[in-house]
Amino acid sequence: MLSVYLIFNLIILMKVLVATDKAFAPHAISQIRILIEAAGYEYLLLENYRDVSELVTAVFDADALIVRSDMVTAEVLDAAKKLRIVVRAGAGYDNLDLASCTAHNVVAMNTPGQNSNAVAELAFELMLYQVRGGFSGQSGTELRGKTIGLHGFGNVGKYVADIAKGFGMDIYAYDPLVSERVMKNHGVKQCNHSEELYLKCQFISIHLPSNDITKKSIGYELMRRMPKNAVIVNTARKEVIDETGLLKIFEKRTDFSYLSDVEPDCKAVFEKKYKGRFIFTAKKMGAQTEEANINAGVAAARQIVDYFKTGSEKFRVNK
Ligand code: 3PG
Repeated sequence: MLSVYLIFNLIILMKVLVATDKAFAPHAISQIRILIEAAGYEYLLLENYRDVSELVTAVFDADALIVRSDMVTAEVLDAAKKLRIVVRAGAGYDNLDLASCTAHNVVAMNTPGQNSNAVAELAFELMLYQVRGGFSGQSGTELRGKTIGLHGFGNVGKYVADIAKGFGMDIYAYDPLVSERVMKNHGVKQCNHSEELYLKCQFISIHLPSNDITKKSIGYELMRRMPKNAVIVNTARKEVIDETGLLKIFEKRTDFSYLSDVEPDCKAVFEKKYKGRFIFTAKKMGAQTEEANINAGVAAARQIVDYFKTGSEKFRVNK
């Protein structure tokens, strides 16, 4: 017997809007399009938009929406009269107003793990550039034999551990949600609390989501424990850093570096006072590879098709 979803599908041509203010790679876009059209849906694209009003207008008659870090707020959801599902093509879904999605009867999903390797590689790109003095010609240092601490051991943390192994680094991790056995399988030593991690590791790579618990959770008290020539690499979210504490440690210790995928709010102070001790990307670059775009974009399109065809709610993140 035909499912309710299938019947609904056959009668009405669904519209799937891909709306990203940071464009996917062209190959990713064409694969997403093929998948959506092969399922019998209409494909709509809004790329590189400058103002949220463009998203508000475009989403008006969309049944499904694929976004990246784009803010899906109550305003967007109010405008989306037919919307039934939004998929964040990526891991962190702090850009989705989950309560509002639920209130609007919209299913919200993410695509965990799909762009993790790209983010992990960026962590190393930032570290290598920094320890080689920004390729300035000065003598730098190597990663081999150095300690690296993974604050958070989810999908990205695991890829970072695997790459760090290749560099011959000594790897630690702190994540209360992950067992010692899982860490051991990746050649990682478990720390029992974050203080221990920061005390042991010259390099800290942050892999936490941004939520009420983690926001501003990494500040002076953790940073001051770090060994000489400390480097914090943040490819997660700028919000997890307490920037008052960050500025305090920079004031007190000249051996401290901060490498962040996106600029912190206090960027101007860094530019004025701490040249050579930081790298900030202008736009979030961690997942900006063709491979990651294909993986996350295609996964998002598949999840939408599965939802409409079978009702599958795998990777749903709202209640
Ligand atoms: C994620 O949470 O998946 C990453 O931060 C990637 O974000 P982006 O898709 O906006 O680049």
